[in-house]
Amino acid sequence: MKIVKGFRDILPYGSTNSDSSYTWTSITNQLRDVMSSYNFQEIITPVAEYDSTFKTGIGEDTDIVSKEMYEFTLDKDNKETSKNQILKYCLRPEGTAPVVRSLIENSLDKIRSVNKLYYLGPMFRYERSQKGRYRMFHQIGAELIGSNEILYEVEILSLAEKLIKTLEIKNFTFQINSIGNKESLDNIRSAILAFGKKNKNSIDEKDYKILEKNPLRFLDKAIHKYAFKDIPKTIDYIDKESMNRFKLLTKLLDDIKFNYKINNQLVRGIDYYNDLVFEATSSDLGAQDALLAGGRYDTLIQKFGGKSNESIGFAAGIERLILAMNRKNKYESSIDFFIIYKEEETIEESLKLALKLRNLGIKVEIDLERRSFTKQIKLADKSRSKKTIIISKNNLDKALVVVKDMNSGEEDSVNIENNLEFLINQLKV
Ligand code: HAM
Repeated sequence: MKIVKGFRDILPYGSTNSDSSYTWTSITNQLRDVMSSYNFQEIITPVAEYDSTFKTGIGEDTDIVSKEMYEFTLDKDNKETSKNQILKYCLRPEGTAPVVRSLIENSLDKIRSVNKLYYLGPMFRYERSQKGRYRMFHQIGAELIGSNEILYEVEILSLAEKLIKTLEIKNFTFQINSIGNKESLDNIRSAILAFGKKNKNSIDEKDYKILEKNPLRFLDKAIHKYAFKDIPKTIDYIDKESMNRFKLLTKLLDDIKFNYKINNQLVRGIDYYNDLVFEATSSDLGAQDALLAGGRYDTLIQKFGGKSNESIGFAAGIERLILAMNRKNKYESSIDFFIIYKEEETIEESLKLALKLRNLGIKVEIDLERRSFTKQIKLADKSRSKKTIIISKNNLDKALVVVKDMNSGEEDSVNIENNLEFLINQLKV
C-alpha cells in the first residue's frame, strides 16, 4: 500500500520538525494560543463541501477551481437526488469559502455583529508537488467578518506577524497592496491587457492565453518571467476611497512600527478580494516562498446570499512555517520518570507506582518486557527521561525507592508511602 502522492504522514518518530507529530502538535498549540490571545474563536468545518461553495467563492476560472480541486461524485446520491442533478463534492482547497458558508448557514452574524473566527486543518490542491508545495497541506487561518473598520486591518496584520514571530522565524517580509473596488479591478484588468497586447511579441503563447483569459492571473503568475519595465501598478487604477484607505493603513502601520513593503503588482490568485491584499514571504523557502496570504473580501458574503458583511482574513501554510523555522529537533518529547526494577519480582509494585504517578499527571514510562536491569537503563537513556526511579526488593520493604538524576547522576532515597510530594517536586528542580 502507498500513501497518496503529495500527501504526507506525520510520524511519532519523525526526523525533522515537519514530520514529527510531537513537534507538529507543539507548534500548532503555540499557533492556537496566539489566535486565542487575539480572541479569535475556532470554527471547525468539514474537509469536504459541495463544489459550488468554491466555484462561487473562489471563482470558476482560478487555478484552484479549474485545475486543482479534488472533486468526486457518489453513485448512491443519484438515487436520492431529483432528476439529473448530480451532486459534486470536493475536498476543500482553502478555508475562507467554507467559513463563510457556515457563518451564513448557522446565522453566526445574527449572534455577533463582528465574528473573529480561526481554523486549523488540512486543505487539498492538486498541484505539482515540490518543496513547500503539497497536495495535502495544513492552514491556520483567521477570518474577521462583519466590519470594514481599518483598525481591524492593523489587528489582522499584527496577528499574522505574531504567528510568524512566535515560531521565531526571523527572515520574512510583509508585502501589501490595494487592488481597490470592483471598478478599479476592471480598470487594472484593462491596463494589463493593453500592456500585454503591446508586448505580445515577447510573451510566449501559453502566457498570452492566460493574459487574454484572465489578465490578473497573468500579473500574478506570469508577468515576472519577463524583464518588462513599466508593468502597470494597481495603485494607478484604484478609486479615490480605496486610495485614501490604503494611505491611512500605511500611516497606522508606520505608527506601530510594523515592517512592510508596498508591492503595487501584488494581486491574488483568488477572486474574492478587494482593497487590501497582502502576503508574507520568506526567501529561505525557495520557489514557494509565501508563508501566509490574505486580504479584504467585502462582497463574498453577499455572493453567498448573506447580508452585506465586510470581511478580512488570511491563511498561513503550517508546513511552510515549519520549513522557515529552519531548526531541527527543537521540540523533543521527553518523559519525567523511567521506572527501573532491579529484580523481576518487583515488577508489579513498580507498575503500581507508575500508575499512581500517571494519575497525578506525571509522564512515566516502565518496561514491562521483564528485561534485565542493564537493558532497562539503556532504554531509560534512550527515552530521554529526566530521572529514573530505581526499585529494589530491599528498599521496597522499607517503602523506599532511589531517584536518580540522569544528567548529574545525583541520587536521593524517597519514601513512596508518605513522601510522593518529594518525587513530584524533584521534577521542578
Ligand atoms: P492562499 O494564498 O491560496 O490563500 O493560501 C494561503 C497559504 O497557504 C499560502 O501562503 C501558503 O503558505 C499555503 N499554501 C497554499 N497552497 C499550498 C500548498 N499546495 N502546499 C503548502 N502550502 C500551501 C488562501 O487560501 C486564502 N483562503 C487566504 C485567505 C483567508 N484570504 C482571506 N482569508
